[in-house]
Amino acid sequence: PETKPLVAGNWKMNGLRSSLDTLKTIASGAAALVGKTDMLICPPATLLREATSLCSRTALRIGAQDCHSLPSGAHTGEISAAMVADCGATFVIVGHSERRDFQSETDAIVRSKAAAAHAARLVAIVCIGETGAERQSGETLNVLKRQLAHSVPDGATATNTVIAYEPVWAIGTGLTPTTDDIREAHAFMRADLVSRFPGNGTNMRILYGGSVKASNAAELMAIVNVDGALVGGASLKADDFLAIAGIY
Ligand code: G3H
Repeated sequence: PETKPLVAGNWKMNGLRSSLDTLKTIASGAAALVGKTDMLICPPATLLREATSLCSRTALRIGAQDCHSLPSGAHTGEISAAMVADCGATFVIVGHSERRDFQSETDAIVRSKAAAAHAARLVAIVCIGETGAERQSGETLNVLKRQLAHSVPDGATATNTVIAYEPVWAIGTGLTPTTDDIREAHAFMRADLVSRFPGNGTNMRILYGGSVKASNAAELMAIVNVDGALVGGASLKADDFLAIAGIY
C-alpha cells in the first residue's frame, strides 16, 4: 500500500492525568516522523479531552478505545462515537479482543460500532484475530475471513477504516506468530479486502498487534502487507513507543 504506516498505542485501562507527560513526550517525538509514519495514542476515555488539547498542534493523533453503536440514549456508562469526536479525537478502536471476550461483543456489534464511528467521521480501527485454540486447530484463516466479513461494515474505505490483526494468544504474552505466519495472514486479509472493496482494499491499512516491542518491531513492520502496529504494553512508556515508531 502507498499509505504511510500507522503506529498506534492502546493504553487500555492505564493512565491518570499524571500520564499526560508521557503523551507530551510522544507528541514531541512524533514531529520527527511527520511524512513518514502516522502516530496515534488511544488513552482511556477520561483523558481524551485533555489529550486532544495537549496534542492539537502536534502530529500525534488521539483516539478512543471503544464507542457505542447508537448515537444517544439510555445506556448508562457508554460513550457514543459523536462524543468521541466531540472530544477532538479522530480514531476509535472497535472490537478489541478484550471487549469481545469480557463484554461479549459479537461481530455484529463490532460492525455496528464501526458504522457509528464512520457516521461520526472517525476512523474505525477494527480488531480481529484468532484464539490460541483456533490457531492450533488450523482455523486461523477461516476465523479472519469470518471476522472481516461480519465486523467490517460495507461503508469501509481506505480512509475511514484500519484493520488490526491481533492474534489473541499474542496479546500481552510476549509471544508472536512467526514472520511467515504473519505474512500469510496479512496476505490473506489483503486479498479478502481487495476483493470486497475494489479501489479501497489495496490501501486499507492492516496493522499487526500482539507483543510488539522495540526489539521485534523492525522485523514485524518489514513484513509485506503489515502497514503498522497496534501496541499495548509498550505504548505506556514514551521511549519504547517512539523506538517502535522510529524504525521506519
Ligand atoms: O491493543 C493492543 C494489543 O492488545 C496488544 O497488546 O502489545 O500488550 O501485547 P500488547
